[in-house]
Amino acid sequence: MGQDPRPGYHQPVMADRVAEILGPVEGTVVDATFGGGGHSRVLKAKLGDKVQIIGIDKDPAAAEQAARLGVRFVRGDFGRLAEICAAEGITSLAGVLFDFGVSSHQLDTPKRWGSAT
Ligand SMILES: C[S@@+](CC[C@H](N)C(=O)[O-])C[C@H]1O[C@@H](n2cnc3c(N)ncnc32)[C@H](O)[C@@H]1O
Repeated sequence: MGQDPRPGYHQPVMADRVAEILGPVEGTVVDATFGGGGHSRVLKAKLGDKVQIIGIDKDPAAAEQAARLGVRFVRGDFGRLAEICAAEGITSLAGVLFDFGVSSHQLDTPKRWGSAT
């Protein structure tokens, strides 16, 4: 399993419930609001090789977190999900997770993430 998110990053409060809901799926799951990767970390730990996770986020800092977790990552807007999947060669999805909002570290550094791609 990858490392925990850096201190100060979002701590998802419903990650176990999300993993439970996605538990029956097998295949590619998009974490469309990857952020600090808290949900992806739990999904990887609970579902293992059953799922291949693709992280998407418009915050460039999320790429670093994805690398720490060993999750494939695309910086972009989830509004372009279909385009992103096509560009990544993904032809079917088992699930898509959206965790809308912002993380507190982003509010601390709005210039870094504030503009959409
Ligand atoms: C509440 S945080 C997600 C936290 C994440 N689930 C975790 O466990 O660390 C929401 C994330 O959505 C991202 N986001 C907001 N609007 C977006 C958009 N249109 N496209 C892609 N990412 C977006 C933000 O940059 C932020 O990282």
